[in-house]
Amino acid sequence: MWDEEIVGCPPEAVTARELRTALGKFTSGVCVITTLSDDGKREGITVNSFASVSLNPAMVLWSIARGAPSSATFTTAPRFGVNVLSARQKDLSTRFSRPAADKFAGLDGVTTGLGAVPMLDGAVAQFECRNQFQRYGGDHLIIVGTVDLVRTWDRPPLVFFAGQYADLDPRHLPQETR
Ligand SMILES: Cc1cc2nc3c(=O)[nH]c(=O)nc-3n(C[C@H](O)[C@H](O)[C@H](O)COP(=O)(O)O)c2cc1C
Repeated sequence: MWDEEIVGCPPEAVTARELRTALGKFTSGVCVITTLSDDGKREGITVNSFASVSLNPAMVLWSIARGAPSSATFTTAPRFGVNVLSARQKDLSTRFSRPAADKFAGLDGVTTGLGAVPMLDGAVAQFECRNQFQRYGGDHLIIVGTVDLVRTWDRPPLVFFAGQYADLDPRHLPQETR
């Protein structure tokens, strides 16, 4: 079926609020996806839509809102980096989830990956990817990448649950879930 033919359930069946609440019950990590635009501008966006796709070949995906200011850059850039954030990188998550002319301004701990894509120090894992193909998914665009390089570190991850940041320390979970 072509993407454009997908209509989904009638709008009254599931409200946006119900959907957000239900999706929030799916605990995820938090990533900053980074890239370099054709004209040499560094871009980054906080996402929790990152997921594995395939082991052989190594492939991953994430999705970006079609209306996001950085979507044009992520659509055309040949490469992207995935920085899986550690529990101490909540500030980075916040920084990259707010629109800004230059989200990297004044930021320390940025290295350069393949294709000069900026990568963030202090992550739990990094994936350096080729932008392989994209598909429309409703109001988002699903970006699938093939993985050229990975790095991992033994650090506690940043966690996102019910619209809030958490970590794997049970004392830090939202009150009602303890
Ligand atoms: C925890 C978290 C997860 C997010 N996940 C996504 C996501 O998967 N896709 C997306 O398009 N935006 C996501 N966002 C929102 C973007 O980070 C935000 O809209 C950002 O400003 C977009 O970057 P831009 O303005 O540079 O385009 C998420 C935000 C947070 C805090």
